[in-house]
Amino acid sequence: MSVETSKQPGTAGTTSDELIRIEGVTKRFGDNTVLDGLGLTVQTGRHVTLIGPSGSGKTTILRLLMTLTKPDAGTITVDGQRLFPAPEKELREVRKQIGMVFQQFNLFPNMSVLRNITEAPVTVLGLPKEEAQARARELLDLVGLADKADARPTRLSGGQQQRVAIARALAMRPKVLLLDEVTSALDPELVAGVLDLLRDIARTTDITMLCVTHEMNFARDISDQVLMFDAGRVIEAGPPERIFGEPEHERTREFLGAVL
Ligand SMILES: Nc1ncnc2c1ncn2[C@@H]1O[C@H](COP(=O)(O)OP(=O)(O)OP(=O)(O)O)[C@@H](O)[C@H]1O
Ligand SMILES: [Mg+2]
Repeated sequence: MSVETSKQPGTAGTTSDELIRIEGVTKRFGDNTVLDGLGLTVQTGRHVTLIGPSGSGKTTILRLLMTLTKPDAGTITVDGQRLFPAPEKELREVRKQIGMVFQQFNLFPNMSVLRNITEAPVTVLGLPKEEAQARARELLDLVGLADKADARPTRLSGGQQQRVAIARALAMRPKVLLLDEVTSALDPELVAGVLDLLRDIARTTDITMLCVTHEMNFARDISDQVLMFDAGRVIEAGPPERIFGEPEHERTREFLGAVL
């Protein structure tokens, strides 16, 4: 199944403002076919949420987009540029447009919060250090951690670390932000703050978002489109009101019955 995520129904199928296109992507680990001829597109500026059972391949899709793993077949393009198949040099350029926030933060423990945020803009984008630092301080302000620039990540709470990880991803000014269950490693009382921050970012920036989440209320709030994913394919897609309110697929009903 191929899924278009467009603002207006009439524009589905056009390619003008398409940011991500995944076509016929298959990914196997040994005999385990995790993605099975997957097709989906994400239009620029849209907020798309992937939901589905554990082990269904949601993280694998994000890892493919981050080029942390490669598909066995199919094509992936971002903003019209090839991500797969593509020569390493071309791929590095495309990868700069994609930011990812992981479940486990993955901050650099031996660097200050500020340096965590400036490192990639300086080394990958070649931004002058002062400019990267000014930008990092603005982002720390945005995520509510202006006073933590010089702290080590290990001295921060999980929620604060995740805010730094979000600032770090945004510092690269990516066109698309990939979010993989960014609150599932947090203590329950810290979840709401991080989700509120992401809601703010979704509302106030034009960044395209592709989120994997088990937070169904969050998915309902921020998504233009929800994709229900199972056994390597998108089995159902639609606006959140429809997917949560009137799921068509039996598997979606079962899944939502278990998580809501
Ligand atoms: N590096 C790997 N080596 C072998 N198998 C892997 C690897 N990464 C993922 N898999 C397998 O691929 C399948 C999909 O994994 P994936 O992490 O994408 O699922 P998920 O939908 O993100 O699940 P969850 O909701 O639990 O995070 C699983 O069966 C998993 O065991
Ligand atoms: Mg996962």
